[in-house]
Amino acid sequence: MKPKVSIIGAGMTGATAAHWLADKEIADIVLVDIVEGMPQGKALDMQESMPVAGKDVRIIGTNGYEDTAGSDVIVITAGLPRKPGMSRDDLLAINSEIVAKATEETIKLSPDAIYIILTNPLDVMCYVAMKKGNLPRERVIGQAGILDSARMRAFVSMELDVSVENVNCYVLGGHGDSMVPLTRHSNVAGIPLNEILSKDRLDAIVERTRKGGGEIVGLLKTGSAYYAPAAAIAQMVEAILKDKHLIVPSSVYLQGEYGQRDIFFGVPAQLGRTGLEKVYEYDLNEEEMAELKASAEHVAETMRDLSI
Ligand code: APR
Repeated sequence: MKPKVSIIGAGMTGATAAHWLADKEIADIVLVDIVEGMPQGKALDMQESMPVAGKDVRIIGTNGYEDTAGSDVIVITAGLPRKPGMSRDDLLAINSEIVAKATEETIKLSPDAIYIILTNPLDVMCYVAMKKGNLPRERVIGQAGILDSARMRAFVSMELDVSVENVNCYVLGGHGDSMVPLTRHSNVAGIPLNEILSKDRLDAIVERTRKGGGEIVGLLKTGSAYYAPAAAIAQMVEAILKDKHLIVPSSVYLQGEYGQRDIFFGVPAQLGRTGLEKVYEYDLNEEEMAELKASAEHVAETMRDLSI
Protein backbone atom coordinates (compact mmCIF):
# COMPACT_ATOMS: atom_id res chain seq x y z
CA MET A 1 0.00 0.00 0.00
CA LYS A 2 1.24 3.49 -0.84
CA PRO A 3 1.60 6.12 1.87
CA LYS A 4 -1.33 8.50 2.13
CA VAL A 5 -1.24 12.29 2.10
CA SER A 6 -4.32 14.38 2.87
CA ILE A 7 -4.44 18.00 1.85
CA ILE A 8 -6.97 20.14 3.72
CA GLY A 9 -7.87 23.08 1.50
CA ALA A 10 -8.09 22.19 -2.18
CA GLY A 11 -7.62 25.76 -3.41
CA MET A 12 -4.79 26.92 -5.63
CA THR A 13 -1.94 25.80 -3.38
CA GLY A 14 -3.55 22.58 -2.14
CA ALA A 15 -4.54 21.33 -5.58
CA THR A 16 -1.21 22.31 -7.14
CA ALA A 17 0.62 20.49 -4.35
CA ALA A 18 -1.49 17.41 -5.14
CA HIS A 19 -0.39 17.73 -8.75
CA TRP A 20 3.34 17.95 -7.91
CA LEU A 21 2.94 15.04 -5.48
CA ALA A 22 1.04 12.85 -7.94
CA ASP A 23 3.83 13.40 -10.42
CA LYS A 24 6.32 12.09 -7.84
CA GLU A 25 4.16 8.92 -7.50
CA ILE A 26 5.00 8.61 -3.80
CA ALA A 27 1.55 8.64 -2.17
CA ASP A 28 -2.18 8.38 -2.68
CA ILE A 29 -3.80 11.74 -2.15
CA VAL A 30 -7.01 12.98 -0.50
CA LEU A 31 -8.16 16.55 -1.21
CA VAL A 32 -10.57 18.06 1.33
CA ASP A 33 -12.40 21.38 0.99
CA ILE A 34 -15.62 22.95 2.22
CA VAL A 35 -16.70 23.98 -1.29
CA GLU A 36 -19.09 21.33 -2.56
CA GLY A 37 -17.97 19.47 -5.66
CA MET A 38 -14.72 21.42 -6.07
CA PRO A 39 -12.28 18.94 -4.47
CA GLN A 40 -14.16 16.06 -6.16
CA GLY A 41 -13.89 17.78 -9.54
CA LYS A 42 -10.20 18.63 -9.19
CA ALA A 43 -9.35 15.13 -7.93
CA LEU A 44 -11.23 13.43 -10.75
CA ASP A 45 -9.62 15.68 -13.37
CA MET A 46 -6.18 14.91 -11.92
CA GLN A 47 -6.99 11.19 -11.71
CA GLU A 48 -7.89 11.26 -15.38
CA SER A 49 -4.50 12.78 -16.20
CA MET A 50 -2.65 9.89 -14.53
CA PRO A 51 -2.82 7.51 -17.54
CA VAL A 52 -1.16 10.21 -19.65
CA ALA A 53 1.44 10.96 -16.98
CA GLY A 54 1.93 7.22 -16.44
CA LYS A 55 1.57 7.45 -12.68
CA ASP A 56 -0.30 4.94 -10.53
CA VAL A 57 -1.69 7.18 -7.85
CA ARG A 58 -5.23 7.38 -6.43
CA ILE A 59 -6.60 10.88 -5.89
CA ILE A 60 -9.86 11.41 -3.99
CA GLY A 61 -11.75 14.66 -3.45
CA THR A 62 -14.20 15.08 -0.59
CA ASN A 63 -16.02 17.53 1.68
CA GLY A 64 -15.67 15.31 4.75
CA TYR A 65 -12.81 13.96 6.79
CA GLU A 66 -13.54 10.19 6.76
CA ASP A 67 -11.37 9.51 3.71
CA THR A 68 -8.34 11.09 5.38
CA ALA A 69 -8.17 8.20 7.91
CA GLY A 70 -4.74 6.63 8.21
CA SER A 71 -2.84 9.50 6.57
CA ASP A 72 0.93 9.58 6.95
CA VAL A 73 1.10 13.31 6.26
CA ILE A 74 -1.59 15.98 6.60
CA VAL A 75 -1.05 19.25 4.77
CA ILE A 76 -3.18 22.23 5.87
CA THR A 77 -3.61 25.00 3.32
CA ALA A 78 -7.22 25.78 4.28
CA GLY A 79 -7.84 29.39 5.10
CA LEU A 80 -9.05 32.71 3.89
CA PRO A 81 -6.85 35.31 2.26
CA ARG A 82 -6.88 38.80 3.78
CA LYS A 83 -9.60 40.82 2.07
CA PRO A 84 -10.00 44.61 1.88
CA GLY A 85 -11.38 45.91 5.16
CA MET A 86 -10.24 42.85 7.11
CA SER A 87 -7.75 43.54 9.87
CA ARG A 88 -4.78 41.32 10.62
CA ASP A 89 -6.54 40.30 13.84
CA ASP A 90 -9.72 39.36 11.95
CA LEU A 91 -7.68 37.13 9.66
CA LEU A 92 -5.83 35.64 12.62
CA ALA A 93 -9.11 34.77 14.35
CA ILE A 94 -10.73 33.25 11.25
CA ASN A 95 -7.74 31.23 10.09
CA SER A 96 -6.88 29.97 13.55
CA GLU A 97 -10.41 28.60 13.82
CA ILE A 98 -10.07 26.88 10.42
CA VAL A 99 -6.67 25.38 11.27
CA ALA A 100 -7.88 24.31 14.73
CA LYS A 101 -10.85 22.45 13.26
CA ALA A 102 -8.81 20.86 10.47
CA THR A 103 -6.29 19.59 13.02
CA GLU A 104 -8.87 18.32 15.52
CA GLU A 105 -10.84 16.48 12.84
CA THR A 106 -7.82 14.88 11.17
CA ILE A 107 -5.83 13.84 14.24
CA LYS A 108 -8.72 11.63 15.39
CA LEU A 109 -8.48 9.63 12.18
CA SER A 110 -4.71 9.80 11.65
CA PRO A 111 -3.18 9.78 15.12
CA ASP A 112 0.36 9.28 13.81
CA ALA A 113 0.31 11.87 11.03
CA ILE A 114 2.96 14.52 10.50
CA TYR A 115 1.51 17.98 9.83
CA ILE A 116 2.76 20.47 7.27
CA ILE A 117 1.14 23.88 7.67
CA LEU A 118 0.77 26.55 4.99
CA THR A 119 -2.06 28.76 6.22
CA ASN A 120 -1.07 32.32 7.16
CA PRO A 121 0.00 33.86 9.46
CA LEU A 122 2.19 30.80 9.08
CA ASP A 123 4.31 30.66 12.21
CA VAL A 124 1.32 31.23 14.47
CA MET A 125 -0.91 28.75 12.61
CA CYS A 126 1.74 26.07 13.24
CA TYR A 127 1.35 26.77 16.95
CA VAL A 128 -2.44 26.41 16.69
CA ALA A 129 -2.05 23.01 15.00
CA MET A 130 0.48 21.82 17.60
CA LYS A 131 -1.75 22.86 20.51
CA LYS A 132 -5.07 21.69 19.07
CA GLY A 133 -3.64 18.36 17.94
CA ASN A 134 -1.70 17.93 21.17
CA LEU A 135 1.29 17.14 18.99
CA PRO A 136 4.98 16.92 19.81
CA ARG A 137 7.09 19.56 18.05
CA GLU A 138 8.59 16.91 15.77
CA ARG A 139 5.26 16.46 14.01
CA VAL A 140 4.36 20.04 13.08
CA ILE A 141 6.39 21.78 10.40
CA GLY A 142 5.56 25.02 8.65
CA GLN A 143 6.33 25.66 5.02
CA ALA A 144 7.84 29.07 4.38
CA GLY A 145 11.62 28.90 4.20
CA ILE A 146 11.85 26.61 1.20
CA LEU A 147 9.65 29.03 -0.73
CA ASP A 148 11.52 32.17 0.34
CA SER A 149 14.87 30.49 -0.33
CA ALA A 150 13.65 29.19 -3.70
CA ARG A 151 12.73 32.71 -4.72
CA MET A 152 16.20 33.93 -3.84
CA ARG A 153 17.76 30.96 -5.68
CA ALA A 154 15.66 31.71 -8.76
CA PHE A 155 16.73 35.38 -8.77
CA VAL A 156 20.44 34.48 -8.39
CA SER A 157 20.22 31.85 -11.10
CA MET A 158 18.52 34.32 -13.49
CA GLU A 159 21.06 37.05 -12.68
CA LEU A 160 24.12 34.85 -13.31
CA ASP A 161 22.59 32.52 -15.89
CA VAL A 162 23.68 29.42 -13.97
CA SER A 163 21.74 26.29 -13.11
CA VAL A 164 19.36 26.54 -10.17
CA GLU A 165 21.03 23.35 -8.96
CA ASN A 166 24.25 25.29 -8.34
CA VAL A 167 22.57 27.98 -6.27
CA ASN A 168 22.18 27.45 -2.52
CA CYS A 169 20.36 30.13 -0.55
CA TYR A 170 19.10 30.16 3.00
CA VAL A 171 16.31 32.43 4.15
CA LEU A 172 15.46 32.12 7.84
CA GLY A 173 13.19 33.84 10.36
CA GLY A 174 9.49 34.53 10.41
CA HIS A 175 7.46 34.26 7.23
CA GLY A 176 6.81 37.82 6.12
CA ASP A 177 8.60 41.10 5.58
CA SER A 178 10.97 40.44 8.48
CA MET A 179 12.45 37.27 6.93
CA VAL A 180 16.25 37.05 7.04
CA PRO A 181 18.07 36.12 3.80
CA LEU A 182 21.49 34.89 4.94
CA THR A 183 23.79 36.12 2.16
CA ARG A 184 26.98 35.01 3.94
CA HIS A 185 25.80 31.40 4.00
CA SER A 186 24.37 31.43 0.47
CA ASN A 187 26.57 30.48 -2.47
CA VAL A 188 26.90 29.49 -6.10
CA ALA A 189 28.75 26.17 -6.40
CA GLY A 190 30.40 26.96 -3.06
CA ILE A 191 31.41 30.53 -3.98
CA PRO A 192 29.87 32.98 -1.47
CA LEU A 193 27.28 35.29 -3.05
CA ASN A 194 29.16 38.43 -2.07
CA GLU A 195 32.18 37.25 -4.08
CA ILE A 196 30.22 36.48 -7.21
CA LEU A 197 27.73 39.40 -7.16
CA SER A 198 28.29 43.13 -6.71
CA LYS A 199 26.89 44.63 -3.50
CA ASP A 200 24.22 46.50 -5.45
CA ARG A 201 23.01 43.40 -7.28
CA LEU A 202 23.03 41.32 -4.10
CA ASP A 203 21.10 43.99 -2.18
CA ALA A 204 18.54 44.12 -4.98
CA ILE A 205 18.11 40.33 -4.89
CA VAL A 206 17.67 40.35 -1.11
CA GLU A 207 15.05 43.08 -1.40
CA ARG A 208 13.19 41.27 -4.20
CA THR A 209 13.23 38.08 -2.11
CA ARG A 210 11.74 39.88 0.89
CA LYS A 211 8.95 41.24 -1.29
CA GLY A 212 8.59 38.08 -3.39
CA GLY A 213 5.07 37.24 -2.23
CA GLY A 214 3.85 40.79 -2.83
CA GLU A 215 5.38 40.86 -6.32
CA ILE A 216 3.24 37.88 -7.35
CA VAL A 217 0.10 39.30 -5.70
CA GLY A 218 0.68 42.57 -7.58
CA LEU A 219 0.87 40.72 -10.89
CA LEU A 220 -2.01 38.30 -10.31
CA LYS A 221 -4.27 41.00 -8.81
CA THR A 222 -6.60 38.31 -7.41
CA GLY A 223 -4.91 35.62 -5.37
CA SER A 224 -1.36 34.89 -4.37
CA ALA A 225 1.49 32.58 -5.39
CA TYR A 226 0.81 28.88 -5.52
CA TYR A 227 3.19 27.05 -7.87
CA ALA A 228 6.29 27.67 -5.75
CA PRO A 229 4.54 27.17 -2.37
CA ALA A 230 3.04 23.92 -3.68
CA ALA A 231 6.41 22.70 -4.97
CA ALA A 232 7.82 23.37 -1.51
CA ILE A 233 5.07 21.24 0.06
CA ALA A 234 5.89 18.39 -2.31
CA GLN A 235 9.57 18.56 -1.39
CA MET A 236 8.77 18.42 2.33
CA VAL A 237 6.35 15.50 1.91
CA GLU A 238 8.92 13.61 -0.15
CA ALA A 239 11.64 14.23 2.45
CA ILE A 240 9.36 12.79 5.12
CA LEU A 241 7.98 9.79 3.24
CA LYS A 242 11.37 8.81 1.83
CA ASP A 243 13.11 9.46 5.16
CA LYS A 244 15.66 11.61 3.35
CA HIS A 245 17.09 13.52 6.35
CA LEU A 246 16.83 16.57 4.12
CA ILE A 247 17.92 19.88 5.63
CA VAL A 248 15.64 22.69 4.47
CA PRO A 249 14.57 25.98 6.01
CA SER A 250 11.26 25.29 7.77
CA SER A 251 9.19 26.81 10.52
CA VAL A 252 9.63 24.68 13.64
CA TYR A 253 8.96 25.15 17.35
CA LEU A 254 12.12 26.46 18.93
CA GLN A 255 13.20 25.48 22.39
CA GLY A 256 16.30 27.56 22.91
CA GLU A 257 17.82 27.29 19.44
CA TYR A 258 18.95 30.65 18.03
CA GLY A 259 18.19 32.12 21.46
CA GLN A 260 14.43 31.69 20.90
CA ARG A 261 11.86 29.74 22.84
CA ASP A 262 8.17 28.90 22.44
CA ILE A 263 7.68 30.24 18.94
CA PHE A 264 7.60 28.67 15.50
CA PHE A 265 10.38 30.20 13.46
CA GLY A 266 12.17 29.52 10.18
CA VAL A 267 15.46 27.67 10.73
CA PRO A 268 17.43 24.94 8.92
CA ALA A 269 15.54 21.79 9.85
CA GLN A 270 16.34 18.17 9.05
CA LEU A 271 13.25 16.29 7.86
CA GLY A 272 12.77 12.53 7.82
CA ARG A 273 10.17 9.83 8.50
CA THR A 274 9.53 11.05 12.04
CA GLY A 275 9.15 14.67 10.93
CA LEU A 276 11.56 17.20 12.42
CA GLU A 277 14.77 15.32 13.24
CA LYS A 278 17.16 18.11 14.10
CA VAL A 279 17.57 21.89 14.05
CA TYR A 280 20.90 23.12 12.67
CA GLU A 281 22.40 26.24 14.18
CA TYR A 282 24.57 28.57 12.12
CA ASP A 283 27.39 30.50 13.65
CA LEU A 284 25.86 33.93 13.11
CA ASN A 285 27.50 37.33 13.46
CA GLU A 286 26.02 40.15 15.51
CA GLU A 287 24.16 41.75 12.62
CA GLU A 288 22.57 38.48 11.53
CA MET A 289 21.57 37.66 15.11
CA ALA A 290 19.99 41.11 15.49
CA GLU A 291 17.95 40.62 12.31
CA LEU A 292 16.74 37.22 13.50
CA LYS A 293 15.84 38.67 16.88
CA ALA A 294 13.77 41.42 15.27
CA SER A 295 12.03 38.84 13.10
CA ALA A 296 11.30 36.66 16.15
CA GLU A 297 9.81 39.65 17.94
CA HIS A 298 7.47 40.08 14.99
CA VAL A 299 6.23 36.48 15.34
CA ALA A 300 5.94 36.84 19.13
CA GLU A 301 3.79 39.93 18.63
CA THR A 302 1.29 38.00 16.47
CA MET A 303 1.36 35.16 19.01
CA ARG A 304 0.26 37.62 21.69
CA ASP A 305 -2.81 38.49 19.59
CA LEU A 306 -3.80 34.85 19.34
CA SER A 307 -6.56 33.61 21.60
CA ILE A 308 -7.00 29.84 21.57
N1 APR B 1 -12.05 23.41 5.62
C1 APR B 1 -11.53 23.04 4.44
N2 APR B 1 -11.19 23.95 3.48
C2 APR B 1 -11.40 25.24 3.75
C3 APR B 1 -11.93 25.69 4.97
C4 APR B 1 -12.27 24.70 5.94
N3 APR B 1 -12.79 25.04 7.12
N4 APR B 1 -12.01 27.04 4.94
C5 APR B 1 -11.53 27.43 3.73
N5 APR B 1 -11.16 26.36 3.02
C6 APR B 1 -10.62 26.30 1.65
C7 APR B 1 -11.25 27.28 0.69
O1 APR B 1 -12.51 26.83 0.25
C8 APR B 1 -10.21 27.31 -0.43
O2 APR B 1 -10.51 26.39 -1.45
O3 APR B 1 -9.25 26.65 1.65
C9 APR B 1 -8.91 26.90 0.29
C10 APR B 1 -7.84 27.97 0.24
O4 APR B 1 -7.45 28.07 -1.08
P1 APR B 1 -7.17 29.45 -1.83
O5 APR B 1 -8.18 30.46 -1.40
O6 APR B 1 -7.04 29.14 -3.28
O7 APR B 1 -5.81 29.92 -1.21
P2 APR B 1 -4.33 29.45 -1.60
O8 APR B 1 -3.77 30.41 -2.57
O9 APR B 1 -4.33 28.01 -1.93
O10 APR B 1 -3.59 29.69 -0.22
C11 APR B 1 -3.73 28.75 0.82
O11 APR B 1 -1.77 29.44 1.99
O12 APR B 1 -0.46 31.28 1.79
C12 APR B 1 -1.40 30.65 2.56
O13 APR B 1 -2.68 32.18 3.86
C13 APR B 1 -2.65 31.52 2.65
O14 APR B 1 -4.31 30.37 3.84
C14 APR B 1 -3.77 30.56 2.55
C15 APR B 1 -3.15 29.26 2.10
